[in-house]
Amino acid sequence: MKTLTQNSVRQTIQNNPNLTNKELSQMLGCTIQKVSANKIALNKQVNKQATSFDILKKIEADISKVKKEVKKNKKSITKLTNTYVNSGGVNKEIARNKMVDYVLNSKLSGKILSLPFSTWTIEKKILNKSNSYNFLGVERDKNTFKDMRKAIRGTQLPFEVFNGDVNQKIYGAKRESYSHMILDYCGTLNTIVDELEYAIERELLQVGGMMFITMTRTLRKIAHNERLNDFASLVDNSDRNVMSDMVIKGFFFNAIGKNHRIKEVFHYSDVKPNGNEGAKMVMYVIERIK
Ligand SMILES: C[S@@+](CC[C@H](N)C(=O)[O-])C[C@H]1O[C@@H](n2cnc3c(N)ncnc32)[C@H](O)[C@@H]1O
Repeated sequence: MKTLTQNSVRQTIQNNPNLTNKELSQMLGCTIQKVSANKIALNKQVNKQATSFDILKKIEADISKVKKEVKKNKKSITKLTNTYVNSGGVNKEIARNKMVDYVLNSKLSGKILSLPFSTWTIEKKILNKSNSYNFLGVERDKNTFKDMRKAIRGTQLPFEVFNGDVNQKIYGAKRESYSHMILDYCGTLNTIVDELEYAIERELLQVGGMMFITMTRTLRKIAHNERLNDFASLVDNSDRNVMSDMVIKGFFFNAIGKNHRIKEVFHYSDVKPNGNEGAKMVMYVIERIK
């Protein structure tokens, strides 16, 4: 009689998964116990393989988790550099005080649309001198928004908050919705031209109300806007800042129409956290006159 090797028994078991132990033993010419012992051994092997597979899967999952984590960190670092971090600086303070004085001297009362950041500096300065205003504070950055809301939690201050783009409170807003609009973007004009034109054309300010718009004077991005490019093409060999100033001024002169005027143009520079001069900025004060 041919001697059965362990391999041939196991091979036969694997090739005939639907046969019972008895049928297998008859086919192999061995005892049922031998079939059963080899089946158990085969099962153990499969389980062992499954375990190594599981470990591999876990390692892969861990690697992908780490990769995700690294990606997230990279993103939050990029985000951080895009986030407003510098609320200090003497010149910025001068610009803020101008806004506060204009608002208080207007003698208007009512809702002010603003971009308060988490510090609510301008808004608190106004409320310190007059309680006839309430604010709709808007912030698009989620974390800044959380801090902004946290800063006023538990206070009775007349602040309403909105997490989103400020243009969501401009487009579709009713005529004369706001007494003033403190649009302290500190961004570039090309990204806000449409909403500014809309706010002026739809007369979102009450008569006597002011719109304060802060922006950088960088030409690089400004000139990429189709409409602003018209103003940029009017000038050629000026230095970059003079040229951006002409583009910005051209835009506002064109946008104000008959019912608004440019009340003041205030140039200032941000101060970096290390004390050095930062970006060159400008504030436009637009007043609704009729
Ligand atoms: C320059 S800071 C405001 C500074 C603040 N007014 C002060 O006096 O310190 C601008 C803030 O508005 C947010 N912001 C800028 N543009 C925005 C937009 N279009 N919609 C909503 N939030 C915006 C920025 O994330 C930032 O927190």
